[in-house]
Amino acid sequence: MDETRKEGRYHRIISQLEGLLTKTDSPVARMATIAAVLSHKFDYFFWCGFYFVEGDKLIVGPYQGPLACQVLQGTGVCLASVTQNQSIVVPDVHQFSGHIACDSRSNSEIVVPVRSEGGKILAVLDVDSAEFASFGETDRIYLEAIAAMVYKNQ
Ligand code: SME
Repeated sequence: MDETRKEGRYHRIISQLEGLLTKTDSPVARMATIAAVLSHKFDYFFWCGFYFVEGDKLIVGPYQGPLACQVLQGTGVCLASVTQNQSIVVPDVHQFSGHIACDSRSNSEIVVPVRSEGGKILAVLDVDSAEFASFGETDRIYLEAIAAMVYKNQ
């Protein structure tokens, strides 16, 4: 998808979420809503969802897509995002040392931290694509903005 079209779509999604996420401040309800909207608006979002940070493990939260690993520990892109305290874009998951393949059809991935309003990482938002190199700077910027909506005003 070209960047201009992608940006327009993210803008519309963020406006829609701004309306939807006023109903409750429940993080789980907000995550479920975000996962549903993202996966229905981007047809190449093969898996889209959240993992909660619990000690040195990540525990699956609301998601859309094929069955995912319930617990991530030791390696993986999601854990790397937490330990490196930043978003990670992976154009080819087969080249990422320690990548955890919950589903072998995944070929590229982006993980962005979900932070409290104080900046602590409480979860991650993970999106997988069956295509290579689906994600870039545009996705990072807008998915970080969307991730910031989960714990907003709490
Ligand atoms: N690929 C992730 C695991 C989660 S699944 O993609 C849903 C990782 O390497 O952490």
